[in-house]
Amino acid sequence: MIYGERIRFRGAERSDLPTFVRWINDPEVTAGLGMYRPFSLAEEDGWFERMLARPPDEHVMVIEAKTTGKGDEEGWKLIGTCGFAPIDWRNRAAEFGINIGEKGYWNQGYGTEAVRLLCQHGFETLNLNRIFLRVLNTNLRAIRTYEKAGFTHEVRMRQAEFRNGEYIDMLVMGILREEF
Ligand SMILES: CC(C)(COP(=O)(O)OP(=O)(O)OC[C@H]1O[C@@H](n2cnc3c(N)ncnc32)[C@H](O)[C@@H]1OP(=O)(O)O)[C@@H](O)C(=O)NCCC(=O)NCCS
Repeated sequence: MIYGERIRFRGAERSDLPTFVRWINDPEVTAGLGMYRPFSLAEEDGWFERMLARPPDEHVMVIEAKTTGKGDEEGWKLIGTCGFAPIDWRNRAAEFGINIGEKGYWNQGYGTEAVRLLCQHGFETLNLNRIFLRVLNTNLRAIRTYEKAGFTHEVRMRQAEFRNGEYIDMLVMGILREEF
């Protein structure tokens, strides 16, 4: 496990897949992601197998939030996923992705904490030098999250993605070890 203040990362289990499928079939969640069509549990199962065949440091990690409040049982609640893929070991650079699929946890700082914790893991454990991501120009919540976590706007890929009948720009944002 990798522990932050209010969150922790653990490995993804096969039993998590129905929750992942619920998230990636929610249009509000996928508006900011690469998914554009319905996903079945069988397809997700295939993705899980391919993911396990990748190098261990590229495996998806689950984000869990500490639950101590009323109503919730004390413990850990599965709220999202994140991970590096691919990792370029020669250049010590990696792209990452994040999805907080539980919408009730948006806008409470969990995304920023998860990005910072992932960067800490990347820079201080995996010994990376550069971490970057791609984000749709329309995903204002995500862009703000990465800015808060210390990422710099690096590139605008014009009309990179076709969504809802129009082309959208894709931004590349990055952070270097010396900036973290
Ligand atoms: C993007 C994501 C990781 C952010 O996580 P989060 O926990 O909601 O983010 P945080 O609460 O840490 O920060 C969100 C910030 O965006 C701001 N924000 C929210 N909606 C916004 C909008 N429409 N315009 C501008 N800023 C917005 C919030 O106010 C907050 O900033 P603040 O702290 O300065 O007020 C999460 O919402 C998510 O996974 N969404 C679905 C999948 C996705 O889009 N993944 C990213 C793909 S690149």
